[in-house]
Amino acid sequence: MKGIIFSEFLTLVEDKFGLDICQQILDDNNDTGAYTSVGTYDHLALVKLIVSLSKLTGISVEQLQEVYGKSIFINLYQSMPGLEGKTKSTFEFVKSVEEYIHIEVKKLYHNAMPPEFIFISETKAQLVMDYHSARCLSHVCLGLLHGCAEHFNEKIHIDMDPLNPQESEVRFCLTLGE
Ligand code: HEM
Repeated sequence: MKGIIFSEFLTLVEDKFGLDICQQILDDNNDTGAYTSVGTYDHLALVKLIVSLSKLTGISVEQLQEVYGKSIFINLYQSMPGLEGKTKSTFEFVKSVEEYIHIEVKKLYHNAMPPEFIFISETKAQLVMDYHSARCLSHVCLGLLHGCAEHFNEKIHIDMDPLNPQESEVRFCLTLGE
C-alpha cells in the first residue's frame, strides 16, 4: 500500500494522541516509521499499528479506522491535481473515485491496489454500492465517505452491511439527508 496512507496515519496519531503513543505503537511492531509517500509497503503493517493503537487507547479498531479515513480524505483529495470543481456532490465524486481517481492511482503506481466499488443502484437521494477489497478496510472506507460528504457540505447517512464474514465485501447505502 502506498506510503501516503502510512505517513498520514502516523501524523494523525501524533496529532491526536501525542508523540509517545506514536513511538510506542511503532516500537511494539519493530517498525521504524520511515514511510515515504511514494514508497509501497505491506498493508498488514498498517493493520498492526491500528491494532496496537486500539490496545493502548481502548478505542475499537473500527472506530480508529473510521476517524483515520475521515481525516485523510482532504489530503488524498488535494494530492491529485485537477480534482477541484470537477464534481459537485458526494455521489458524483464517489463514482469518479471508481471511474477515474483509483484508475489514475493504478497508472501512477503499477503496484497499487485500491478497492473496487460496484454500483448497485442510484436515485437522487440514495446511492448503493459494494466495496470489494482483499484488504478488508471497509471502516476506512466509511470514514473516507464521511470526509467526502463533509467536503461537499452534504448531510449523508451511511449504512454498512458486510456481505461476507471477513468483510472483504461490504454494501454501503448512502442516503442524502436534509
Ligand atoms: C470518497 C472517496 C474515496 C474513497 C471512499 C476511497 C476508498 C479507499 C479505501 C477504502 C482505500 C484503502 C485500501 C482498501 O480498502 O483496499 C483506498 C486506497 C487508496 N486510495 Fe482511495 N478512496 C477515496 C478517494 C481517494 C482519492 C481522492 C485519492 C487521490 C489520490 C485516493 C487514492 C488512494 C490511494 C493512493 C490508495 C492506496 C492504494 C494502494 O496503495 O494500494 N483515494 N481508497
